[in-house]
Amino acid sequence: MEEAFFIQQAKDKMTICKMCRECNGEVCRGLTPGPGGKGTGSTFVRNVAALKKIQLKMAVIGHDVQPDTTYNFYSSIISAPIMAAPISNVKINYGSLVDEQTYLNGLIDGTQEAGVLSFLGDAPAQAMFDLSLDALKKLNGKAIMTIKPWEMSVFMNRLDLVMAENPMAIAMDIDAGGLTSLRSAHPKVTFMSVEQLRMIKQKMGSVPLILKGIMTSEDAMMALDANADAIILSNHGGRVMDQGESSIEVLQEIVEAVNHRCLILIDGGFRTGSDVFKALALGADAVLIGRPFSHASIGSGKEGVVHLVNRLTRELKDAMMLTQCATLSDIDISKVKVRL
Ligand SMILES: Cc1cc2nc3c(=O)[nH]c(=O)nc-3n(C[C@H](O)[C@H](O)[C@H](O)COP(=O)(O)O)c2cc1C
Repeated sequence: MEEAFFIQQAKDKMTICKMCRECNGEVCRGLTPGPGGKGTGSTFVRNVAALKKIQLKMAVIGHDVQPDTTYNFYSSIISAPIMAAPISNVKINYGSLVDEQTYLNGLIDGTQEAGVLSFLGDAPAQAMFDLSLDALKKLNGKAIMTIKPWEMSVFMNRLDLVMAENPMAIAMDIDAGGLTSLRSAHPKVTFMSVEQLRMIKQKMGSVPLILKGIMTSEDAMMALDANADAIILSNHGGRVMDQGESSIEVLQEIVEAVNHRCLILIDGGFRTGSDVFKALALGADAVLIGRPFSHASIGSGKEGVVHLVNRLTRELKDAMMLTQCATLSDIDISKVKVRL
């Protein structure tokens, strides 16, 4: 089916999100709750805009490259280094006409069929957390539950429930400690210290801990101190802090500081396979994509999500073919021009 069909389906099923031609944060500036970025919306806008300051260097003399996009993430071989970012509360945020359960089913069935992974979201309401937990169960632990940094007793309770499902990894969106609406909710979010994070990792044993919301090399060093196995460079799609840097702008500095001591994932504004290529060239291991996965699942469920992953993978393969990259490890800084 044509791209235009999936776009129309998404438009018809959302009353708040306008499903703009380019999802760049302009129309929804300040709409949080909603699909937008906080305040002036400039952090979301900057995420998308900064990616345009990197160009791919075309190389067409050489071999006839057949790009291989497969990626090994904690012993799961996935079809491309692309994952659905955790997103919850689709009724409130997008004005979704499909309910949370239907949205989640489309997301996990679609990512599973397309051979990639989903991060699952969390919210104060136990019922919302339970929906994500059920999705994790359905996937036999092959997804990444993202628990918010709740006050410790609530966090530990939710961690126990997730650990019981034999998860491949567990993430925590530590930047959610700054979400104003959740700082006064019940349960409420908080910021976590290195000691608390270490204690959490100790409880998880060999299950990888992924810290989402790292934007400086100082925080990356503290994540390493806390024994995190991976970090996600993310500003929550611009929803936590106004006037912040974009995640792609801080990538190279953090890659250098981390120096291969943990995996580095990134999200914020990635819309095409060429965007994914840019992050890999600057040193990221894989890329999470948020809003486009929500649009795809709300609009067309599993088929929409499969269509999205196929398009992104096709674009990534095109980018690799035209830069003479046969494998993901061939993608490096020499393949792009950076004007950040
Ligand atoms: C409506 C909405 C809800 C979100 N909910 C969560 C959440 O529950 N947990 C989380 O870690 N991040 C959440 N995020 C942030 C995303 O996981 C991700 O960091 C961000 O959307 C990436 O930017 P992109 O949408 O421009 O790709 C949410 C984002 C949006 C737009």
